[in-house]
Amino acid sequence: MDKLLIRGGKALRGEVEISGAKNAALPIMAATILSPGLNTLYNIPDLKDIKTMSTVLESMGGKVARADEDGALMINTEGVETVEAPYELVKTMRASVLTLGPLMARFGYARVSMPGGCAIGARPINLHLMGLEKMGAEITLSQGYVVARAERLKGADINFDTVTVTGTENLMMAAVLANGVTRLENAAREPEVCDLAGVLIQMGAHITGVGTPLIEIEGVNELKPANYRIIPDRIETGTFLAFAGITGGDILIKNCEVTHIGSLIKKFMEAGLNINEEAGGLRVIGPHAGILKAAEVATSPYPGFPTDMQAQLMALMCVADGTSIIRETIFENRFMHAAELRRMGANIEVEDNLAIVKGVNKLLGAQVMATDLRASASLVVAALAAEGETIIDRIYHLDRGYEKIEYKLSKLGADIHRVSA
Ligand code: EPU
Repeated sequence: MDKLLIRGGKALRGEVEISGAKNAALPIMAATILSPGLNTLYNIPDLKDIKTMSTVLESMGGKVARADEDGALMINTEGVETVEAPYELVKTMRASVLTLGPLMARFGYARVSMPGGCAIGARPINLHLMGLEKMGAEITLSQGYVVARAERLKGADINFDTVTVTGTENLMMAAVLANGVTRLENAAREPEVCDLAGVLIQMGAHITGVGTPLIEIEGVNELKPANYRIIPDRIETGTFLAFAGITGGDILIKNCEVTHIGSLIKKFMEAGLNINEEAGGLRVIGPHAGILKAAEVATSPYPGFPTDMQAQLMALMCVADGTSIIRETIFENRFMHAAELRRMGANIEVEDNLAIVKGVNKLLGAQVMATDLRASASLVVAALAAEGETIIDRIYHLDRGYEKIEYKLSKLGADIHRVSA
């Protein structure tokens, strides 16, 4: 198992290029099931999760190939005939469940392994299934698999009682080929949901209200293949804000979409970072006086502060001046990183969904363990500022979501090495 070895204390300086958004790429790859033929997607990051989704599509009979140019991924779903996402793949990546909607839309039948719980929470998919049932699907659970059937899905009014990102995406993909109009109320507004709608519209789907809580979809009879470039990863961008902030660095972040990270910029500026748009990208400079300020934050669905940045902000707050209060409202168990950060000298108390972080003067290098993707990123943030050497174990989590992380960080001057065990 690979580990990362980081010697902290270097201020990061230089330029970094943000990769395409993992959480936009995954649903968009699943959406190609809806458009038989050759789909070409650009800016697709080279990540473990992308490979898993490629394997899911290949296991169904699709053809997936990489081209060198501009992160291009070619997906031909003409030959898809197996309408199943098997347990072996879903258990390694729950986003495989995003094939349920498109399979139902195209074939009227799907057998998708039910994802189990994960490190950050129970993460049920009841809302995905409720929506499909409203659209006329008959759903049974058999041997751990969701088995869904419908002759042709029909439009329906669907109201989510919790905002769900992949739930909104799955039902949007189910609705584009349904008979009639579907209304998704209390829909997710994340940029990744909007990007999926963008590709579906290019394929010929009729969708309005994207980016608002009410999305309307009028089903069409068929969709044509797409040629689409996906958005930059806003969570990777935010993670680099944290890297710059904690090391007192000066980084120009290129290929990022500033309009997607308003809540992040606001919070990081409150913490003392200097963030400005320049011609070539977003310039972020660690606090001038060298002192980060404590912050108060509650995670919430977009446009609020993203749960996927909570861990990285917590790492930054570990060395801020004062007491920070972090409330996690999306997932019930997303503070696993707190215990690892404590091993590095952080002062964090966790009570239910509240973390109280009292800033310390410095963090100390230690052996720590990653428990999920964003928790891993928070350990990297902490390690970059810690005194001495930090060894981060189980970094396969990190490889699921951060493209060439040690390469990008070394280029900025970090002392970071991957050690293969
Ligand atoms: N929920 C339900 N029932 C459902 C679906 C969701 O109760 O049927 C609950 C969840 O348990 C959670 C809340 O609703 O408490 C929100 O979950 P959501 O469905 O929005 O999460 P997701 O779609 O499974 C996506 C991202 C996550 C990100 C969340 C929240 C992808 C592939 N994953 O997950 O990304 O944290 O939205 O923004 O888009 C990550 O990249 O590290 C990651 C975990």
